[in-house]
Amino acid sequence: MDFAPTEEQEAVRRLARDVADRLLAPRAAARDVAGTFPEAELRELAQLGLLGIVVPEALGGAGADVIAYALAMQEIARADASVAVAVSVTNMVAELIAKVGTDAQRRAFVPALVSGEAVAGAFALSEPQAGSDPAAMATTATRVGDRWRLTGSKAWITSGDRAGVMVVWAVTDAAAGHRGITAFLVPGVPHGTPGLSVIRLEEKMGLHGSTTAQLALDGVEVGDDAVLGGVGGGFRLAMMALDGGRIGIASQAIGIARGALEAAIRYAGERETFGQAIIKHQGVGALLADAATWLDAATLMTLRAAARKQAGAAFTREAAMAKLLATETAGKVCDVALQVHGGNGYTRDFPIERAYRDVRVTRIYEGTSEIQRIVIARELVRGL
Ligand code: CAA
Repeated sequence: MDFAPTEEQEAVRRLARDVADRLLAPRAAARDVAGTFPEAELRELAQLGLLGIVVPEALGGAGADVIAYALAMQEIARADASVAVAVSVTNMVAELIAKVGTDAQRRAFVPALVSGEAVAGAFALSEPQAGSDPAAMATTATRVGDRWRLTGSKAWITSGDRAGVMVVWAVTDAAAGHRGITAFLVPGVPHGTPGLSVIRLEEKMGLHGSTTAQLALDGVEVGDDAVLGGVGGGFRLAMMALDGGRIGIASQAIGIARGALEAAIRYAGERETFGQAIIKHQGVGALLADAATWLDAATLMTLRAAARKQAGAAFTREAAMAKLLATETAGKVCDVALQVHGGNGYTRDFPIERAYRDVRVTRIYEGTSEIQRIVIARELVRGL
């Protein structure tokens, strides 16, 4: 067991840190206030390979490993969590197509995603009435001649209005339950795809630089060449992609919390009460000590899941545990960081207020904490 990153992993982390410090951090607060989608920033991250970190170089990706991906996600989220979620979902979509797409699908969609040409990827699984239980989705894909017609609506779609490439899940055989769900590759809203439109953009508590769309599919037509991974194979694909996606969201949560904790440590070293820096007061020091300890534990859990995925080992349980621990921990760490800042932490003059809002959703998307516990419990039973 080796806890040190390899040279390549460290190089990717440093690359992400440099661009995050130079490009993302300086305007993150302004993007949050104005609700600006980071299109130019995503294109620049793409130039550095950060939209396809584990995607093979032959398809335009960085060809790095899963640990490098987790480290890069932490660095990006430390600077701007809104950018991080778009980066995470785009990586997830690009990786999925690179892994299970046909040669033609890979060539048509992956270079566009990882080069920034598509701006972002979107993962259109959830629906207004089917979030935690995606098998209950109502969107259908019916056969019309030699084409498929998609009808329904999708909800909570990260970058759903901006993404040039979307994976859309739909029921192709209602009698077959989850085995009757199929994934389709659909050109996104910016392409003016007939029948595809934005119903609304959510007004969220945090992640104001990221868009979250509800989409209408009103007879969107695609051919057989849009079927990703086989008719009826969509649910398994979604589960597989989400296993990896959960490492990304765990990393995002860790990055947000790491930034908040660093700010709190700095603040506690400078701010004085009763004649000394507040970090010297036992109560404050202990808060920060606990937060740092929890966060390191969550980081190690996340890197374990990444290492197992990289090794080709089963990692469903480890990814769910990492996401559960990292996101719950990150929430606590941001709370501690705000508390240490006192009244200042409750204002927009300090970055903690944004971190506190941004981190909250990590316990919800790509599987709530309650869903992660279901996944873990099922895996425990399976392991007996
Ligand atoms: N990998 C591969 N296959 C898997 C799998 C996995 N991790 N988990 C389940 N499967 C397979 C099963 O083997 C089974 O296959 P067979 O048909 O061959 O038997 C099939 O999938 C059905 O499995 P289950 O019976 O366990 O399915 P379920 O309906 O009970 O659901 C669940 C299980 C894990 C709770 C699942 O519903 C789930 O993950 N829910 C949460 C959904 C989620 O995370 N949504 C996030 C939305 S995306 C998002 O947020 C993106 C964004 O924009 C930020």
